[in-house]
Amino acid sequence: MDELKHVAVIGGGIMGGGIAAFFANNGIPASLFDIEKKLAINCIKNLTDPKARIPLLYTQKNARLIKPYSVEELEVLKDADMIVEVVPEVMDIKKDIDRKSTRLNSSHIPLSRMPSSA
Ligand SMILES: NC(=O)c1ccc[n+]([C@@H]2O[C@H](COP(=O)([O-])OP(=O)(O)OC[C@H]3O[C@@H](n4cnc5c(N)ncnc54)[C@H](O)[C@@H]3O)[C@@H](O)[C@H]2O)c1
Repeated sequence: MDELKHVAVIGGGIMGGGIAAFFANNGIPASLFDIEKKLAINCIKNLTDPKARIPLLYTQKNARLIKPYSVEELEVLKDADMIVEVVPEVMDIKKDIDRKSTRLNSSHIPLSRMPSSA
């Protein structure tokens, strides 16, 4: 793959927020999905919280590169160059995301999964 133009991150928790911030800080737009859009919005807000020990987004401009979505809006995955899945370690959730990602994005984009920290 030559260039990442759009990364999708599924799961807007600790890992998902950090991974989306990593891409945004490098100028790469990211779509961030959570169960409800408001959870993804909160995740992005927390990334720029000046009270956080280490705010993960350096600038508000970087924050604007991350767009929040609910999992009901997964059609956005169609044009993602890469999908990072960082949902809880629940097999049914992971299988569901696998199935939908494969159906929506058939160009064999890499699907990266965060293994358990346990
Ligand atoms: N936190 C760590 O230090 C760490 C380290 C290594 C690996 N991991 C792994 O990364 C994964 C995520 O960990 P985390 O700490 O970010 O968890 P977290 O609980 O902070 O975040 C998980 C997020 O996924 C969302 N979610 C649940 N179901 C979803 C669905 N169907 N679609 C979209 N979003 C959904 C939750 O609402 C939550 O916001 C886990 O598999 C964990 O084992 C975590």
